[in-house]
Amino acid sequence: DQIKLFSPATVANLACGFDVLGMALDSVGDEMIIKKSKNKGISISKIVGQDLPIEATKNVAGVAALELYKELEVDYGFEIQIFKNIKPGSGIGSSAASAAGAVWGMNELLGKPFSPNELVAFAMEGERLASGNAHADNVAPALFGGFTLVRSYKPLEVIKLACPEELYAVVIHPQIELKTADSRKILKPTISLRDGVTHWGNVGGLVAGLYTNNYKLIGDCLKDVIAEPQRADLIPHYYELKHQVIKSGALGVGISGSGPSIFALTKGKKIAKGVAKTMQTVYQNIGVDFDIHISKVN
Ligand code: HSE
Repeated sequence: DQIKLFSPATVANLACGFDVLGMALDSVGDEMIIKKSKNKGISISKIVGQDLPIEATKNVAGVAALELYKELEVDYGFEIQIFKNIKPGSGIGSSAASAAGAVWGMNELLGKPFSPNELVAFAMEGERLASGNAHADNVAPALFGGFTLVRSYKPLEVIKLACPEELYAVVIHPQIELKTADSRKILKPTISLRDGVTHWGNVGGLVAGLYTNNYKLIGDCLKDVIAEPQRADLIPHYYELKHQVIKSGALGVGISGSGPSIFALTKGKKIAKGVAKTMQTVYQNIGVDFDIHISKVN
């Protein structure tokens, strides 16, 4: 009665889809062990790799697990162990991975009574604790894999999108911590009609590109005229890195979630490696420490 699982890191927003688009990465994620326990309720017995609260009500995985647990009538509980490989505040869905992993694992142990949409709703409560806002664009791809669209928040409806075979993501994480709560606070609450038109055109175009394997269209739609101009200053040398990465053949570049990580999409692994090299060179020349990952999107 236990399960060991990998819960992936994710890139939210994908430039044009603030709070609605996201994708899962295959090369980095949290590992978790979830067990049924005699004691009722949810307990977190171990967290390896990061200094995070172990009390279930203060931990994103614990809060998500409790949300699911409330729906059950059982005389046992669940014990969670978390092996954190994703740094909190890195912009690749650290809290989402733990929250999604907890509810996914519990659902498996229970015989899958809950639908993927219901799991997203439970996991979003972990996001509420982490960032003050229950956004679903990281937990949805962590649970569904590949690309996801939060078509609606009320009622919640997540759609898993198509994913072209040769799409790769390169994600670079400058070694600073940026809390989602802080990088959301700076965003103006309203957007102009003109910016809205730009974004919904690109969201539609990106989805069309994913379904028709149109790599150029996918890249052309990775544009953000809303959050990027407001958040770029929080990320070391963002525009310089972006400029060099586009020159080295990436389809498009954007801020990963609320930053500070930056992502690029490429067609094929070879170009991904070249893009990774460019990112490394830019940050090495400036003297910024970083982690870098190449992932196949799936
Ligand atoms: N959509 C969220 C934001 C993602 O941009 O604030 C946070 O990872």
